[in-house]
Amino acid sequence: MLDQTPTSIIKARDLHKCYWVGTMPFPALHGINLDIEPGEFTVLAGRSGSGKSTLLNLIGALESADSGSIEVLGENILAMNQDQRTRFRLQNIGFVFQAYNLIRVFSARENVAYVCQLQGKGKKESMEIANHWLGEVEIGHLGYRRPDQLSGGQQQRVAVARALASEPKIILADEPTANLDSMTGRHLIHLMQDLNRRLGTTFLISSHDPDVKQAAGRLIKLADGQIVDAWDSIPKPPISLASACPVGNLPLTERLRNYFREMRNKVRNKKRHGNTRRHS
Ligand SMILES: Nc1ncnc2c1ncn2[C@@H]1O[C@H](COP(=O)(O)OP(=O)(O)OP(=O)(O)O)[C@@H](O)[C@H]1O
Ligand SMILES: [Mg+2]
Repeated sequence: MLDQTPTSIIKARDLHKCYWVGTMPFPALHGINLDIEPGEFTVLAGRSGSGKSTLLNLIGALESADSGSIEVLGENILAMNQDQRTRFRLQNIGFVFQAYNLIRVFSARENVAYVCQLQGKGKKESMEIANHWLGEVEIGHLGYRRPDQLSGGQQQRVAVARALASEPKIILADEPTANLDSMTGRHLIHLMQDLNRRLGTTFLISSHDPDVKQAAGRLIKLADGQIVDAWDSIPKPPISLASACPVGNLPLTERLRNYFREMRNKVRNKKRHGNTRRHS
């Protein structure tokens, strides 16, 4: 049934992701199924720790899933190697982060132009493109300033311009208004909505912000790493740690550490038993 949606620009199936800190598992996503159509303005909502950033990072090919599949623009991104993922991101996906992530020593214009240069465009053309997108987000007159000479809202506009400069089909924004006051946050949302309508860019935005949720063309609710219909429909019984984070997915370094620990214990036990036998 779910697979009868060939037009999806983002298609995730049975996505699982668990983080490991040493041998300690932290489940993040558990069986996510998701279809996003081109041109949608979707907001991912959920409590802190519900898995919003993890899901965006997987869709943006910044991290790998433990199992499941993700198709973005029809491409199986989990099957790509690092280089292919980097190239795919550069061509197709723009990112906007909570902390702006601008390069401090570059001007606003250079920050935006840099993405175009990474795509192989010349410096002059890149600067012209940067001017265009800074104009689109209404700070064309501030292109010469460095990030520390701009307000939080202006820096986030630079980040949106940078995300748009590569003309991506998709923009992933992780808590884009979290560091902004509510008025500036609202302006930013209107700006993104306007760009979505005019350019047809697909937006997937994670947020706690009620204003962002209100602006959503579609709201997806995440709870405990799962998509739910309503906040009170969190699946019961709760997912067990063993099923969410199978030991088989333990990172290689930890598996090796475990292996050597077991070997050491075996040798120690052998010695101890050997000694006891000799004494008896
Ligand atoms: N690098 C990591 N190492 C260990 N656990 C992690 C890591 N990143 C995320 N997690 C865990 O994965 C779960 C989902 O985290 P995630 O950051 O996706 O949540 P979130 O919904 O974005 O939260 P927030 O609203 O606070 O940003 C949490 O339990 C978190 O502690
Ligand atoms: Mg987050």
